[in-house]
Amino acid sequence: MKSSIRLNLTLAAALALVLSGCGSTPNEELVIGEYGSLTGNDATFGTSTKTGVEIALDELMAQHQDMIGGLKVKVVVEDDQGKPEEAATAVQKLVNQDRVIAVIGEVASSRSLAGAPICQAAGVPMITPSSTNPRVTQQGDYIFRMCFLDDFQASVVARFTALHLKLKKVAILKDVKNDYSVGLAKYFTDSFTALGGSIVAESDYSAGDQDFRGQLTAIKAKHPEAIFVPGYYTEVGLIARQSRELGIKVPLVGGDGWESAQLIGIGGSALNGCYYSNHWALDLPDPALQSFLATYKAKFHSDPDAIGGLAYDAANVLFTALQKLAEQDPDTFKGLSSTKAGSDLRKRATKKLRDLIATTTNFKGVTGTITLDENRNASKPAVVLEIKDGKKVYNTTIGPA
Ligand code: PHE
Repeated sequence: MKSSIRLNLTLAAALALVLSGCGSTPNEELVIGEYGSLTGNDATFGTSTKTGVEIALDELMAQHQDMIGGLKVKVVVEDDQGKPEEAATAVQKLVNQDRVIAVIGEVASSRSLAGAPICQAAGVPMITPSSTNPRVTQQGDYIFRMCFLDDFQASVVARFTALHLKLKKVAILKDVKNDYSVGLAKYFTDSFTALGGSIVAESDYSAGDQDFRGQLTAIKAKHPEAIFVPGYYTEVGLIARQSRELGIKVPLVGGDGWESAQLIGIGGSALNGCYYSNHWALDLPDPALQSFLATYKAKFHSDPDAIGGLAYDAANVLFTALQKLAEQDPDTFKGLSSTKAGSDLRKRATKKLRDLIATTTNFKGVTGTITLDENRNASKPAVVLEIKDGKKVYNTTIGPA
């Protein structure tokens, strides 16, 4: 008697297991990877990405209890310390150990270029929110971006310098080990000379350098009317200070790499009268942007930078594709948690996800409308910001030609 009850109970338990197997087991998760520079020379890039993704997750939580297709969404964040080698290691770990379904990152093009081939080889979609170097998405058909490209960005700064500031002679000071900086310098030269301007001096530095006086002294001797500095905020701030110390009064102009809450803290008043191109301007009245701004301020008690906005948009584009996938094919995620990286089951799921991300059209983000073209790039206008009395002020918007 006793043993038959036990048997029935065992049967019932087995049946329950089988039944629960028809859906997903409660501990199954949809794991998304994120890699960025949470520490190092450009730490605000990684931390801003993280906060942007966090806000998107919070909203997913509020709307869908953090669930997509019956699975809990989890984001694993890896710090690459701002180093391309560490970025590669981080992405390997996310793909092989955490078995992520997709990856968000990086900000810096050099680090996206280190991570992208790994995602491509594993068939894991990677969305860079903010890497602008054209080569990033050329790494393969699993690599996407949410922002404009540097050939366009450079043409915006060149047009602004030549036609708006009406300057003809520009010097360039670039970070020679940074793909973004080298690319932007080249594209700027192409655009600016095509507009009739000339590059009167070109000098190099490397991220982490503290002293730019040698290069700036050589540049000063060529009497440029502006200096184009296609670098990241830490060095840009120092370059601005040291150029003023050396009596250089002309404006510095730059690209999105200047975008950081720390830029003005580092460069101080030396940056007044300087300009850079960016993905948004916080003083524009766009309702989606203003509502994100309010949410961000309530949570983090500070203003977001454009990287936070792009990361928020990247996470939402990914969530939307995952949600579509769950609706179209509810079985896609079944059993995924227990399959190894690189399994056929996993590759089928990530391929379907890739195809859905690729169809992103007219996605209304806080950084503008995102439609991915056949090269998985977004085409969006750029804004030019002026630094005035220590504040970033909207100057103009320049659209794709
Ligand atoms: N676009 C830069 C790059 O590709 C990264 C960046 C984006 C920096 C946005 C600041 C703001 O390297």
